[in-house]
Amino acid sequence: MKKDILKRLQKLKDEIRFHDRLYYSLDQAQITDFEYDQLFQKLIELESKYPELKTKDSPSQKVPGQALSKFKKQAHSVPMLSLQNSYSKTDIESFYERVLKLLKQKKLTCFAEPKLDGMAVELIYEKGFLTKALSRGDGLIGEDITAVIKTLRALPLFLGNQAPPFLEVRGEVLILKKDFERINQEQELAGLSLFANPRNLAAGSLRQLDPKITASRPLYCFIHSPGTPLKSLKTQKEFIEKIQKLSLPAFRLSSSKKLNQPLELCRLTHSMEDIIDYYEEMQGLRSKLPFEIDGIVIKVNDFEDQGELGVISRSPRWAMAGKFAPEQGITQVENIKLQVGRTGVITPVAVLKPLMLGGVQICHASLHNFKELARKDIRMGDFVLVHRAGDVIPEVIKALKERRVAKSEIFKTPSFCPVCKGAVRDQGDYLLCENSQCPAVIENKLLHFASKKAMNIEFLGTKSVRKFYSWNWLNCYSDIYDLKGKDLKNKEGFGEKSYQLLVESLDKSKKTTLSRFLFALGIPLVGEQTAQKISEKVYEKHKGRELDILSALSILKTISKEELENIPDIGPLVASSFKQALENKELVKDLEGLYKRGVSLSQQQKKRDLLEGLTFVITGSFPVSRSEIKAKIESLGGKVSSQVSGKTHFLIEGEKPGSKKEKALSLSVPILNYEDFLRKFIRGI
Ligand code: IVH
Repeated sequence: MKKDILKRLQKLKDEIRFHDRLYYSLDQAQITDFEYDQLFQKLIELESKYPELKTKDSPSQKVPGQALSKFKKQAHSVPMLSLQNSYSKTDIESFYERVLKLLKQKKLTCFAEPKLDGMAVELIYEKGFLTKALSRGDGLIGEDITAVIKTLRALPLFLGNQAPPFLEVRGEVLILKKDFERINQEQELAGLSLFANPRNLAAGSLRQLDPKITASRPLYCFIHSPGTPLKSLKTQKEFIEKIQKLSLPAFRLSSSKKLNQPLELCRLTHSMEDIIDYYEEMQGLRSKLPFEIDGIVIKVNDFEDQGELGVISRSPRWAMAGKFAPEQGITQVENIKLQVGRTGVITPVAVLKPLMLGGVQICHASLHNFKELARKDIRMGDFVLVHRAGDVIPEVIKALKERRVAKSEIFKTPSFCPVCKGAVRDQGDYLLCENSQCPAVIENKLLHFASKKAMNIEFLGTKSVRKFYSWNWLNCYSDIYDLKGKDLKNKEGFGEKSYQLLVESLDKSKKTTLSRFLFALGIPLVGEQTAQKISEKVYEKHKGRELDILSALSILKTISKEELENIPDIGPLVASSFKQALENKELVKDLEGLYKRGVSLSQQQKKRDLLEGLTFVITGSFPVSRSEIKAKIESLGGKVSSQVSGKTHFLIEGEKPGSKKEKALSLSVPILNYEDFLRKFIRGI
């Protein structure tokens, strides 16, 4: 009996660890958050029933404990050094030449890896168990952040029986760009101050005395170097391979000539040319990566050589950071525009004299809110420093006050809505248009409802929504489905063809999922993830049976605020915003209207969406026919093209791939073999 329980516990723990590793190594997740939460719940239940079977390595030990009163300081056993920075190819060249000379070698193998822009940490594993985590501090003395680090799903608590008795490793904790965006949006809506960049958010999440806050943030960690050296390892390559074997997260050596996202980002270099190639390739990848990097790190691969080169003024002579040019630039503010969003929040946006940053033309930059705008004192006509990171909206960092023209005026916070001229409410950091009938609020709500991640009404875009609204055809969500059957005669600027496409996309969108539907309603603070979680709760209550809008609504009404708050990641603010929305009679009437017009819910996420927007090229021979692979991709919404081009997202290679592979390599198109393809896209659907 006990044996059975032990077996079940072991299986659950292994499964949870497996999914944690998959998720936090940026691999395709194989289960939904809901299924993960269920596994976790089962583990907690079993462990509380049989406390004597609870082990130190159990993922349940990641549940955050008591808040600390302060962090204790502790010295690093080996100082955490900093890297010499270089900003040009010539700097890297001189580093390389210097090392060759010092080592009296003609050839040199280096290990090239990304320079992660996060927060540095040191982890200590004793007898395989994570026993200590320290922040970098001043490099000599750090802070004991063990309690918060232990909540990270990205890190194992136990490395298995093969682990060395003592292992000290260093790495970087970071947060993905998309999570940074989402968390900042939530901060903004909750009237809290914003994080300046993903690094600050990651650091702020770790420097938390309350581990609960850390646990609520999706923090990643990648290990990049040893602390106290391990005698059995001779090179950086061996170190990286060793820690991977121990299931610690780290970037891998690329298995092909080109780097492969998201994890195969390291390479062994054998010449200066190799290093420059790597630098350029990483620079090209930079904006496509899901996290921020600010350069590359070149390390002499051999540990003995490293020892010989030694350290000079707290930087090793065996490594160098090749920093990328910051994605920052200076331009002039031509105007400060006010935007009114779907929740009525009024946001100031800087209209800029166009400038190029990281290969992209920038004309607008976010000023976040009026408090930020006032704090930074940005004025029309100012020269400003603008920053852009990946696909994130560019932001104005500061005004160059020394270049300010004498006559410029402080920007005045508006006292009425710039669109409907109605009253505004000061909500601390942000300003709110209180008029639910404000044209901007309605138009943006409708646009959100129709957007890709919501109801996905492909042919209802900004222009048509504006037009239909001005013709009085649209006021609430259900009006959208009455667009079919409208008389377009004498209506300028909307052709028969566009109308046909619109009607088709309306019909297509009528079948959706509850989570998309809840997200589409545009309830303040209810983003995609929250909608997903609430929808799972509804189905749980309905024992997994099918639902329509009205039955979903009545179940939603039975879920109390407390029940909502008990769902992981849903806090009191989100819960009350959701409950409040359900009490809104107009919204409820609109939901009934949508039901009557045939909008229906199905539990299955439409599989078609999975590969939507992705283009594949297939080359070589496979265990199945190519047309079968093509049919599979198309059935999941992807496209298959016969030629590799800049628009190709993936090349799937079989045996004897031929010239398409060369083309893909030359264009840095990621290459998958058949097994990779199945693992990444097909299994786990
Ligand atoms: S190796 C000094 N590798 O950069 C030698 N550091 O200036 C040990 N960093 O705070 C560091 N990515 O945490 C190394 N791939 C990488 C890195 C990296 C980011 C950080 C590191 C430290 C700073 C050094």
